[in-house]
Amino acid sequence: MNGLLRCVLVGLGARGRYWAQVMHAEPRCAIVAYVDPSAEALARADADFGERPGFASLDEALEAGLDVDGLVLATPPSGREAQLRHACERALPVLVEKPLALDLHEAARFVRMAEAAGVPLMVGLNFRYLAVTIERMRLYRDGVVGRPAFTRFTYERWRDGYRPGINRYPLTMEHPMLWEQSIHHFDLLRYVYGVEPLTVACHAWNPSWSMYAHETNVAALFSFDGGLVANYQGTWQSGWATPGFEWRTDATEGVVTQFDQFGDLRYARRDEPALRTVDLPPHEIWVTETAGLLRAFLASALDGEPLECSGRDHLSSLAMVEACIRSSRDARVVDVGDVLAEALQAAG
Ligand SMILES: NC(=O)c1ccc[n+]([C@@H]2O[C@H](COP(=O)([O-])OP(=O)(O)OC[C@H]3O[C@@H](n4cnc5c(N)ncnc54)[C@H](O)[C@@H]3O)[C@@H](O)[C@H]2O)c1
Repeated sequence: MNGLLRCVLVGLGARGRYWAQVMHAEPRCAIVAYVDPSAEALARADADFGERPGFASLDEALEAGLDVDGLVLATPPSGREAQLRHACERALPVLVEKPLALDLHEAARFVRMAEAAGVPLMVGLNFRYLAVTIERMRLYRDGVVGRPAFTRFTYERWRDGYRPGINRYPLTMEHPMLWEQSIHHFDLLRYVYGVEPLTVACHAWNPSWSMYAHETNVAALFSFDGGLVANYQGTWQSGWATPGFEWRTDATEGVVTQFDQFGDLRYARRDEPALRTVDLPPHEIWVTETAGLLRAFLASALDGEPLECSGRDHLSSLAMVEACIRSSRDARVVDVGDVLAEALQAAG
């Protein structure tokens, strides 16, 4: 590979276009082909990010005799099996957008398939690579506020599902908020605190004015190993178009709180009357952190570094989603570990 990963970029929609931008800017990555069934999307990528051979399907791209070392999949989360099979048959490391699948059992099968083929499968959890996430973890690691004990995570957004340029499939899919959005938040909870979920009590619903066919609101109370408790509330159909975000952690000696999903991190020790602001480097939203994710993928594929955001790790966050769905459906507390174990067993 000579220090260069030659990738096919599959899917050129809202997210795929960020991938095109980030991959073009990364010297250790080359896009050798674009794949999208939309001729318009292919033409736009040629115009905006440089001409490349374009194909309507991954099969066609892989049959074209190009030198390919890896795949980046920015397609909708349903219907990825054939693409992942191609990656496994050709031993191509693959970076796939979250969620890996819209079904935990299916995702577990994909992970088993990739592991059996020895293919690195990385999931696009870009929020891990934000400076605000890294600094938050540093505050805990350095013991600045003591040990995290409980947290309140609120994400309030008016997401106009018909806005030009935004993906359309969430309008009709089941549990769009949980699978498409909360999955990032659940991953952050596990990642930042370094803990695994035990139980959840969840209620998911759709407000009366929702433009989505299925639930856009999630209220969930998680317990984690080590005793951490997380109180989560998310919506895509807020009553107000101005977004609201707060992720506050109360710790044994103080508090850490974040007022923007991309930044604005503050903390105080228990007796300090005002929050202190944490300095963060400049950040281009959706680009800087996606570049960090890509570099981690390249470090694994080219340098043999341990794989970050592995498919297997992602299953634990998907199990939180599935446990929320069951908890809400049955109005009961659900054991997240049981949900994960069931999927792993079914995957063989
Ligand atoms: N990590 C993030 O922050 C983030 C942000 C937005 C979206 N996403 C994820 O990215 C993925 C794509 O979302 P999007 O918003 O770009 O959707 P989108 O609908 O805007 O774009 C999807 C593109 O994939 C193409 N496509 C569909 N089936 C294909 C196939 N079989 N082969 C090749 N191309 C195909 C479509 O023509 C379309 O151009 C989803 O999994 C979504 O959850 C992640």
